[in-house]
Amino acid sequence: MCGIVGYLGSELAAPVILDGLRALEYRGYDSAGLAVLGPNGLTLRRRAGRIDDLASLIDEETLQGTIGIGHTRWATHGSVTDHNAHPHADATDRLVIVHNGMTDNVHRLRDHLVADGHEFRSETDTEVIAHIVGLEYAAEGSLSKAVATTLRQLDGAHSILALAADEPDLLVAGRVGAAGGIVVGHNDTGAFVASDLPAVVQHTSEIRVLQANEVVTLSRETAEFTDLNQQPIKRRSMSVPWDPVAAAKAGHRHFMHKEILEQPRTLADTIRPRVTLDPVELELDGFDLPLKATSIDRVVIVASGTSYFAGMVGAHYLRDVAHLPCSVEVASEFAYAPGPISPQTLVVAISQSGETADVLVAVDRARTVGAPVTALVNTPGSELTRAADEVLHLHAGPEISVAATKTFVSEIGLLYLLACKLGVDRNLLGPEELASNVAAIAHAPIAVARALELEPKLEQLARRYHHFKNFLYMGRGLAHPIALEGALKLKEISYIHAEGFAAGELKHGPIALVEPATPIVAVVLDDTMRAKTLNAVTQIRSRNGRVILIATEGEDLHDDLADDIILLPPTPSTMAPMVSIVPLQLFAYHVAVWLGLDVDQPRNLAKSVTVE
Ligand code: F6R
Repeated sequence: MCGIVGYLGSELAAPVILDGLRALEYRGYDSAGLAVLGPNGLTLRRRAGRIDDLASLIDEETLQGTIGIGHTRWATHGSVTDHNAHPHADATDRLVIVHNGMTDNVHRLRDHLVADGHEFRSETDTEVIAHIVGLEYAAEGSLSKAVATTLRQLDGAHSILALAADEPDLLVAGRVGAAGGIVVGHNDTGAFVASDLPAVVQHTSEIRVLQANEVVTLSRETAEFTDLNQQPIKRRSMSVPWDPVAAAKAGHRHFMHKEILEQPRTLADTIRPRVTLDPVELELDGFDLPLKATSIDRVVIVASGTSYFAGMVGAHYLRDVAHLPCSVEVASEFAYAPGPISPQTLVVAISQSGETADVLVAVDRARTVGAPVTALVNTPGSELTRAADEVLHLHAGPEISVAATKTFVSEIGLLYLLACKLGVDRNLLGPEELASNVAAIAHAPIAVARALELEPKLEQLARRYHHFKNFLYMGRGLAHPIALEGALKLKEISYIHAEGFAAGELKHGPIALVEPATPIVAVVLDDTMRAKTLNAVTQIRSRNGRVILIATEGEDLHDDLADDIILLPPTPSTMAPMVSIVPLQLFAYHVAVWLGLDVDQPRNLAKSVTVE
């Protein structure tokens, strides 16, 4: 949450910072601001609203400096106003910081400062931190020491980036706690620092990652890492395979549309490096747990939001293919009530961003009892990649739209491969079964591509339904998490109330909501649940319910079963989750477009949720 950007080099800083902030706007878009150091000293521009509002404040004065810092905010302490926007200055106005995180002990720190005569111009914890950095700077005479000393006083998880008028040739970033990544990189114009890769990969693919309890001091050519006691740390650079074009809209009106449409390729990128059909092979990046596969007694999947729903699909795979007892836990619940887990429990953490605080805390909890953790992550270099014992990368490329789409499908594909791998390692999956599973997953990208051909129908469906105020989504078995994810997509980007439930539960409550003004989206796959889900649909129809049926073709489908039927391409039932979500993503997308909403940056949300 919140995006931090900094630049120090030979180019004008303001345009570089604005570009970086645009690339990070998905992390928060309540307000934006920047500070540039030029011949006339520090110039600040801050505004509630989007980056484009900030851009309108860029004038000659801000265009003078070649060093600066910027911020796009997801509000925590303090409401959404110009004066709460970052950067914030210290008491001397000669030092500024931007900040990502939440300070648990802010009231105590602020009270001390107020007692010492400090006055504050905002309600943010960031301004309190800026004043402390300023005091430490006055005492230490070094910005990097001041940042390190300040971070030691803060409770919670933070990253900050500081710029001081008296040290005009460096930027200092620091980080404490698990949440709030910082990446740095150089090219021949200078140094870049940001909270996430999309702001840096447009300038260089060689990056270094700041870890918890570290400070990095950047000059135009160098990056010096230390711990919070100023002891030097060697940090190797890593090459990020993300192509800057992948983080651009590429002619699409919205990132979400681009990301939905690129799913056949991104799913193939997840699967293809890991399987071959002739000879049949499945290789999971040298997957090597501290625990032998045969010693695992059960699997617990932890994740949040969309990744949690992917985990629900994965639990079916792990039970069916690897014959492992498997439960799926909302990360924020598991973190504080993990239940009985042991070193024999394999914990699988799933996260697109790899920075979700709830997931990181859950992983920490699992590791304290010695449970091995395998992480499925999309963002290279993210915190979760370091917190886990084993990392399986999604390789889905940057996902910029706040609503997750392509990473959901890649997570499911990768969970299927993990289930097959554990099935083989546990001697449960023979060569023939493996061959048939590998063939099925290798063809899944093609089935996803065929589902995308349904877009014109979904656009028309969205046109007819976008004025409805409530939707219900239901499915059973593997279709249940798809119904939940379909409802989440609709509510996130269209602000329409949508609730998903297991179709078998209809008769236990939700049926009371059935009436023509509440359309019910029923997901029906070609599996053992089909007849039962269709029975539920019939019960809805006999109560004048309005039904949108998303189903694979079959003799049991007839026109009066539903008001609208979207036929899915034929797909093996195990692969159907990756295919059946596509029409639901497209439906949600087009509803939001018909409603004229900001699809990529829905209100109140942020892409990386780095606070608990
Ligand atoms: C939904 C969405 C969120 C995330 C959730 C977890 O479209 O984007 O629900 O899925 O915040 O994020 P990650 O996967 O980054 O841990």
